[in-house]
Amino acid sequence: MAEHSELYAFAGHANPSLLRYADASGGRLQTGDVCDAAAVAAFAREHEIDLAMVSADEPLQAGVVDALLAQGTAAVGPTRDGAEIEWNKVFARALLLEVAPEATPRLRVVQAPERVDQAIASFAGAPVVVKPSGLTGGKGVKVMGPHLASHADAADYARSLLADRRHGDAVLIEEKIVGAEFTIQAISDGSTVVFPPSTYDYPYRFDGDEGPGTGGMGSLTMPGPTLPFMSSAHYTQACSIVQRVIERLGAEGRRFTGVMNSGFFATADGVRVIEFNARFGDPETQVVLARLKTPPAGLLRAAATGQLATFPELRWSDGAAVTVVLASFNYPDTPRTGDPITGLADVAEKDAHAYVLHAGTRLSPDGRVLSAGGRVLSITATGPTLPKARDRAYRALDRIALDGAHHRTDIAASASAPPTHTG
Ligand code: GLY
Repeated sequence: MAEHSELYAFAGHANPSLLRYADASGGRLQTGDVCDAAAVAAFAREHEIDLAMVSADEPLQAGVVDALLAQGTAAVGPTRDGAEIEWNKVFARALLLEVAPEATPRLRVVQAPERVDQAIASFAGAPVVVKPSGLTGGKGVKVMGPHLASHADAADYARSLLADRRHGDAVLIEEKIVGAEFTIQAISDGSTVVFPPSTYDYPYRFDGDEGPGTGGMGSLTMPGPTLPFMSSAHYTQACSIVQRVIERLGAEGRRFTGVMNSGFFATADGVRVIEFNARFGDPETQVVLARLKTPPAGLLRAAATGQLATFPELRWSDGAAVTVVLASFNYPDTPRTGDPITGLADVAEKDAHAYVLHAGTRLSPDGRVLSAGGRVLSITATGPTLPKARDRAYRALDRIALDGAHHRTDIAASASAPPTHTG
């Protein structure tokens, strides 16, 4: 957006790359509580913002888009009601059951701890997945096999979620699906929906899909709309489901503009929906935007103003893109912060096809870049083929030093036969 406009960013902390892009574009970055809808709206008024984009789950749930629209600021991103598709999984599953029952895993919703055992017994011994209903930053879902050793463990985890209620007041217990995961980041103005190429996300912490769930440790996209482990029928079915979901939200008076990042399993029997995000996915966005040749600012304006039907067809570069995430020591449990990061200038200077995006970083008073969160940096590279893009991403990553940091080494190593995910 900074390439095509003045960028005014309202952010939780002074992320150095946002700061740099905002300054270079003639705009500015202000820090504050991104869930304080009145503060964000006042920032937009003060700077006479033409187009606002709300890009994260918690501010969407807090109704920041509602506050912007109420004062007449054009905004892309769903209202609180539209974003319920992400922040309330019980709502999302109920809506999906109506519009796409064939793609909805068998599930039970539990609100009372004493109902957990009965709900798990209804799966008659089949493995299950336990999901909190609310937002968890990608870290709440636990699957029997990789995370839960038995039905008793699944029941204990469900009861612990219901006891603390930080992530909603219900738990979903679902049949475990086995399939290859893919994501589509559809963009909508509330009625027309445009579909980018599929992406593949690596949600688990360690190589080979071991370890806990995370917000995402890497991603890839390849030429064409699909990925090698899925068919064009999977892609078409997935797009049709997203279209139906957005139409249903609209019919209920829930404004959904912006990006619906939708996760699917490709199975022998069609797709199953994993979840919907009411925003760009991280790190799926990095690889999709790396290939988008249409200027995104115009696209987002069309999404905000109901003009997607007449917007020119999106143009994509024909290559592949790969993102590798660098995580801080002890992510996702208790990530260590405050460590200096070096080598960033080297990447900017030497890697023409790679770039670094900052997530959990901040500037020290003496101008050094320090780690400030769990997922610290994402390194994205493009290339004519997947192996070339992967080599470029890892070569750039090797130039960066952060004490105790860790990354997966198998991102994009085998896209034709990726680790089979379950969830
Ligand atoms: N990578 C999934 C998410 O953005 O939540």
